[in-house]
Amino acid sequence: MSLSVETAASFAPEPNLAPEAETDRYGAVAIGLHWTIAGLILLNLALGWTFRQYTPPIRRLVMSTHESIGLTVLILTVVRFGWRLAHRPPPFASHLSRLERTAATAVHLGFYALLLVLPVAGWLTASAFPKPKPLALWGLPVPFAPLPALTPEGRHALLNGSATLHARLAWLFVALLTLHLAGALKHQFLDRDRALSRMAPWLAPAKR
Ligand code: HEM
Ligand code: HEM
Repeated sequence: MSLSVETAASFAPEPNLAPEAETDRYGAVAIGLHWTIAGLILLNLALGWTFRQYTPPIRRLVMSTHESIGLTVLILTVVRFGWRLAHRPPPFASHLSRLERTAATAVHLGFYALLLVLPVAGWLTASAFPKPKPLALWGLPVPFAPLPALTPEGRHALLNGSATLHARLAWLFVALLTLHLAGALKHQFLDRDRALSRMAPWLAPAKR
């Protein structure tokens, strides 16, 4: 993906919005949402990759937990993106190169896109089974995805396509996470610029 500095800049909200904090750290809401979504998505990857090893009654319980967690991630991501657009993040450290800023912004935008598309692909998959199991968000009924009227073969093809997409997007997520982790850890421990503390309130913040 190529991302110009202009595109990267357009992701940053208007400069007259309130800064999130006095130090180079994200605000409490952004931090809370970052770690909540990170925890939920890691748990969901684990459930997605292991649910087949369980036998039916437990497997259904694991899958409905997976579906509820995934839908929660979708809702929290919409809230988070809205919050992000309305709140100026702390500025990048001045020593970061153009390439580093663009790469970080591209990975962040990729995450936001994936956190929306991955659960939607799961919702499509769960709705496309020949006899889909009722969907719920922690017990609250959730409608199936509105699918077009299809022949059984067409529906089977849709199911295969969406399940494959869902599974591949999960791997794409892991690839992005690897880049994200590598970037955060390199800055924190090799460059020693306390980049991790921007999102980790338990670490000493970098002062402006
Ligand atoms: C945070 C979001 C999500 C993540 C990270 C995630 C991840 C995964 C993974 C890794 C698998 C196993 C794929 C494979 O290797 O075959 C999977 C399967 C599945 N997921 Fe998700 N998922 C998410 C959200 C959802 C949602 C919201 C739903 C439905 C409402 C859903 C429904 C399913 C279903 C039905 C399967 C089984 C597909 C099959 O039988 O091939 N997922 N998911
Ligand atoms: C597991 C899933 C994770 C996801 C989906 C995720 C997603 C994101 C996103 C979208 C941002 C940009 C926030 C914004 O500007 O709106 C961000 C920032 C950040 N994340 Fe993560 N993250 C994850 C895990 C982690 C982990 C495990 C670490 C720590 C090693 C981490 C450290 C950071 C740091 C330090 C920032 C601030 C980057 C900066 O602006 O300098 N993240 N993350």
